[in-house]
Amino acid sequence: MDWGLRNRITRMFPSGSGRSVMLAVDHGYFMGPTRNLENAAATILPLLPHADAIALTRGILRTSVPPTATTPIVLRVSGGATILKDDLSDETITTSMEEAVRLNVAAVALSVFVGSSHEHQSLANLGTLVDEGEAYGVPVLAITAVGKELEKRDARYLALACRVSAELGAHLVKTYYCEGFSKVVDSCPVPIVVAGGPKLDSIEAALTLAHHAIDEGAKGIDMGRNIWQSEHPVAMLKALRTIVHDGATVREALTTFHAATAEIPLVAPPASR
Ligand code: 5RP
Repeated sequence: MDWGLRNRITRMFPSGSGRSVMLAVDHGYFMGPTRNLENAAATILPLLPHADAIALTRGILRTSVPPTATTPIVLRVSGGATILKDDLSDETITTSMEEAVRLNVAAVALSVFVGSSHEHQSLANLGTLVDEGEAYGVPVLAITAVGKELEKRDARYLALACRVSAELGAHLVKTYYCEGFSKVVDSCPVPIVVAGGPKLDSIEAALTLAHHAIDEGAKGIDMGRNIWQSEHPVAMLKALRTIVHDGATVREALTTFHAATAEIPLVAPPASR
């Protein structure tokens, strides 16, 4: 593997655990101003110091993240459909590799829609992006998207989608956690990170998902709504870090979560008149 490509991957998976806590805030590219991401900068900035990488589009990167930020960027480069359509799979590559390099990103990411009406197109997008990524030393993260068909998230389907992505050259794959997840990991020759999906009923449920995923071989998480739609996003991210990096149990992570919610922010006393 080329030096630049390896260096970029290493930046996203900091030494120590060798795993990664990625923060996904790329939802607006097809959902628009979804809950708690209406003002992207307000959501992102407090979370940025606690993430090993952040996944977003170039529009939100340029407008809502200061260029002084050092958090590795995973740039979403596919798009072209919105939630107003039933079929979300009609995507193309919306951002060039030159632009990704100009933005000094650590990786580019696109969705692949295996089994959907635009399966061929999204897999061709992946092949093109991998060719360009290899030429420029930029790793490609394939996201095994299911569109609105959330019920597709089972081991048989996800193992197929992850394996196809790796066969076409993806350097990393993002998928969902599912029952039998270790089969998905075992048959995918590149590292897998796990998305959270729609917000779960409790903090404990989201931490449990992350714990199972890591336990069964995921190299990290790339989670969004279960972090920034929670009441305490920073505490949630801190708790997830203990699972991913320190091997914490769900109970230990919950303790971290509650301790973090109790931290009183340092605010300057009101100026005396
Ligand atoms: C949006 C994405 C998201 O980045 C991915 O689904 C992770 O976010 P969440 O944990 O909210 O599912 O790919 O298309």
